[in-house]
Amino acid sequence: MAFGRDKIELKTPDQIRLMRRAGLVVADALAAARAAARPGATTADLDAAAAAVIAGGGATPSFLGYYDYPATICTSVNDEVVHGIPGDRVLEPGDLVSIDCGAIVEGWHGDSALSLVLDDADPADLALSAVTERALWDGIAALWAGDGLADRLNVVGNAVEDAVDASGIGYGIVEEYVGHGIGTQMHLPPDVLNYRVRDRLPRLRPGMCLAVEPMITRGTIATETLADEWTVITADGSRAAHWEHTVALFEDGLWVLTAVDGGAAELGARGVPVSALD
Ligand code: MF3
Ligand code: CO
Repeated sequence: MAFGRDKIELKTPDQIRLMRRAGLVVADALAAARAAARPGATTADLDAAAAAVIAGGGATPSFLGYYDYPATICTSVNDEVVHGIPGDRVLEPGDLVSIDCGAIVEGWHGDSALSLVLDDADPADLALSAVTERALWDGIAALWAGDGLADRLNVVGNAVEDAVDASGIGYGIVEEYVGHGIGTQMHLPPDVLNYRVRDRLPRLRPGMCLAVEPMITRGTIATETLADEWTVITADGSRAAHWEHTVALFEDGLWVLTAVDGGAAELGARGVPVSALD
């Protein structure tokens, strides 16, 4: 892997406190976008809601202008996996909408995504989103191994894959897009894979910050990119879900910077301590 040998940025507690501020702005912006998501709304309405919250929080959107990306959030609907561009698309009952948002506070980044299904949901779409969210939290929780950080980054992909397998449904785990280190930039080494590999991935260290973001489909793992050069769709038209959080690693636990409760509920349910820095 290209990033594997690159140096991983380790943060001080004060730097992670700034990332927490960015993470909370992202959480607020996602909540606003989610509240705006209803049949009849356009995906641009969701973008405007998120943009207003980010500006009001004294933060800067990280996606806008990133490789000329033209919006504040990504809205990926139905067979769109990630990087859908908000616009005049009108949301309909039953749509599966993934919303991805990033913000910067004093140079420090937060990045998070969620999926939701609008009224008249297909139970299979609800199940897909639920499995993807569970896989995200299992992947994050696996960074902790009982009395300290786990050994290597492999634990994330192992746990995501186990969670998807445990569903008993033949979901596809997208491999072409992966999670990432995060801090002074949105995308930093290391890659955070959502699937099991034999190679030994980087060792986990206190001060590392990672964006964990499984993308799961009801069918193939193969993707295509639309002519807009951003929107990633499934090659077979199956629907996809995407959940993401930014997490900081410490000697005494984890801190999910983009979760309002710091991860307390989901980590607690998995026996993982939230760092005392919270
Ligand atoms: N949040 C996405 C990620 O996690 C990035 C969005 S791409 C952008 O990698 F161009 F919109 F920023
Ligand atoms: Co990300």
